[in-house]
Amino acid sequence: MCMKLAVIGSNMVDLCAYIHRMPAPGETLEVPDFTIGCGGKGANQAVAAALCGAEVTMVSKVGNDLFADNTIENFKKFGIDTRYVTKASDASSGIASIFVDESGQNRILIVKGANDLLAPADIDAAATDLKACAMIILQLEAPLATVYHAIDFGRKHGVPVLLNPAPATKALDIAKVCVCDFFVPNETELSILTGLPTETMADVEEAAKSLLVRGLKNIIVTLGGRGALWMTQTEKQYVVPCRVTAVDTTGAGDAFIGCFASEYAKGGDVLAAMKKASAFAALSVTRKGTQLSYPTQEELAIFLQKKAAE
Ligand code: RIB
Repeated sequence: MCMKLAVIGSNMVDLCAYIHRMPAPGETLEVPDFTIGCGGKGANQAVAAALCGAEVTMVSKVGNDLFADNTIENFKKFGIDTRYVTKASDASSGIASIFVDESGQNRILIVKGANDLLAPADIDAAATDLKACAMIILQLEAPLATVYHAIDFGRKHGVPVLLNPAPATKALDIAKVCVCDFFVPNETELSILTGLPTETMADVEEAAKSLLVRGLKNIIVTLGGRGALWMTQTEKQYVVPCRVTAVDTTGAGDAFIGCFASEYAKGGDVLAAMKKASAFAALSVTRKGTQLSYPTQEELAIFLQKKAAE
């Protein structure tokens, strides 16, 4: 069973403030707490997959600044292959300003920096290793041309592709991403991409269905405290959420995706992979930080035992 995964995409430095409320224009507010850590949707997904036992190769770009080496060292700490994490000479590293409110909800502003320079040539440089992977994982914090190139690469070489269309953009050409094996938006991204509401579960199903009509195959919608939905032309399955008290939801979707890909690569069972990914993500939202909140397998096992006894 091939447990090699590749993540092609972003890394960021997460500057996270825990707020009571957003400041008004011209107002300065003191906030009670702050964390700085490694983030970026791609990097988070890579770390989550590595924590769940996958051998991960990262294809990404860091900037020409003091954050770059720290990001690379952080990947190495999790055993992630960094041979294809390259430094841009004329850009800063990606930066995310994150505001987390008292309900644990986050609002994120990103500066893509070096992530915007990740190019199709960077994928080609990793071709030999990518061909040996059980799955390629993509997000939208890199240029769309690079994302499309990675999808074409996967199709040409028979490597399954999971696309997390985040942050969502209407510029995404659905016709070009239809060949992806998994398409994994959250409800906000699903709404932006389809132009449809996703307030109720019925709304979410309708919106997901509209993407199936446009040719996508496996749609998994992550719904935070409402669980997750998997839809294909023939399947419709809900995974119920693990009930937890959320402190910081930042990176929970990435936690789900990294864990899902790792579990799916082990056994090919979508529903089982979704269940484990839901628990992994749920445990992450009980702690502050992005990657800092991701559990080890031991922590996850204890959490699952406790949940089973509840
Ligand atoms: O999905 C969460 C991530 O989005 C954060 O780590 C931040 O860096 C942004 O990319």
